Amino acid sequence: MTTKRQTVKHGTMPRTASMDLLGISESVPRARDFARRIIGSDHPCLNDALLLLSEVVTNGIKHSNSRKGGIITLRVSAGHGGVRCEVTDDGSPSWPDMEALLSMPGEIWDLSGRGIRLIDRLADQWGRYPLGAAPLGRTVWFELVERKPQ
Ligand SMILES: Nc1ncnc2c1ncn2[C@@H]1O[C@H](COP(=O)(O)OP(=O)(O)OP(=O)(O)O)[C@@H](O)[C@H]1O
Ligand SMILES: [Mg+2]
Repeated sequence: MTTKRQTVKHGTMPRTASMDLLGISESVPRARDFARRIIGSDHPCLNDALLLLSEVVTNGIKHSNSRKGGIITLRVSAGHGGVRCEVTDDGSPSWPDMEALLSMPGEIWDLSGRGIRLIDRLADQWGRYPLGAAPLGRTVWFELVERKPQ
């Protein structure tokens, strides 16, 4: 699934790096720290990228088989065009219909669904794809486009 208007122009992304993380909660700040170093502390997309990355990595740890001693693979690209992050987990037997979830109005007391809404609201483009038949791994990716000051 993809949404939104703009996409990051490839060829304007000089920095790309990936790392494997354990499927444990301590990996969330490690993912942020890694991404901050790749993206750069003065990049205009940094804060949104770290927020969305936290949600996606947390989802991988919370909802996928990575939590059972598996890994989460993070891939970050950053440059003048923007930022792209990909998070691959170990998959899970079920995977909700994100379009259906997003089409429902969120309620203030909802205990679930905020991560996907944040990604859909903030990312210029995002999507997900399986690495094979369930429950093999899945990748969730998002892109943020760098905007010039008006
Ligand atoms: N990596 C994933 N693997 C399997 N299921 C996932 C994954 N990411 C999201 N999901 C499913 O999508 C649902 C919505 O994700 P979302 O992040 O919006 O909510 P949440 O993680 O349940 O709670 P929160 O609002 O705290 O993020 C999850 O409840 C889960 O069922
Ligand atoms: Mg979540």
